[in-house]
Amino acid sequence: MRKNIVAGNWKMNNDLAETSEFLTHLKMQLVKEPEAEVYIAPAYTSLYHAFQTVKDTPIKVAAQNMHHEKKGAFTGEVSAQMLQSVGVTTVILGHSERRAHFQETNELLAQKVSAAMEADMTVIFCFGEELKERKAEEHFDVVKIQLQEGIFHLKKEDWKNVILAYEPVWAIGTGETASPEQAQEVHAFVRKSIADKYDRETADEVSILYGGSVKPNNAKEIFGQEDVDGGLIGGASLNAIDFLAIVNAFE
Ligand code: 13P
Repeated sequence: MRKNIVAGNWKMNNDLAETSEFLTHLKMQLVKEPEAEVYIAPAYTSLYHAFQTVKDTPIKVAAQNMHHEKKGAFTGEVSAQMLQSVGVTTVILGHSERRAHFQETNELLAQKVSAAMEADMTVIFCFGEELKERKAEEHFDVVKIQLQEGIFHLKKEDWKNVILAYEPVWAIGTGETASPEQAQEVHAFVRKSIADKYDRETADEVSILYGGSVKPNNAKEIFGQEDVDGGLIGGASLNAIDFLAIVNAFE
């Protein structure tokens, strides 16, 4: 079902003590029935503790990545089953930093998406164009290919476990946000692409988040766009006050 969602992607920030302090504060301050579903994606090392800390609250915990194999000789990797064993049933896949620094291709991401679905996990699937692609006005083509090759192999039934996140690379960590109109234009394009590939119902049911320099002072305007269902927040999710203000931007 299409929902409002605000997810904090902590990237490689916050150790165990910092995670604990943040989540204890967040769960105390969060209203009982927030207008948005709230996710926090801490480092692997904090996942178990994070899950235990928030398990009786509306806050959900997500992983930032996972491997597509179930187990084996893949030093340093973590499987869907391992995430589930610590209570985590949502995973971010396809983040632009994974694509850029860890050579994650659309083909590899398609395998990860399939593995997550097979394990009955929810996927927050990220995509978005780089600055040179935006300047060349190729952003629609780039986004379309990322979706086609990374996630459009899923069956219609699988889409109930999918959240999409449009994150233009040029807006990540730069302070330069896409304008609400730019975000809306791409989100509407994504929804239409899903309707063309599957059907209108599937397209209308999926939550599409925007990510890239979302802050308390711009969240309301971005989230107010028709096809924007919330945000994937980097920098501002590291500050509990800012993150709460963004969660409350729906109210
Ligand atoms: P910033 O909010 O720091 O721009 O990061 C966005 C992001 O990459 C979330 O996944």
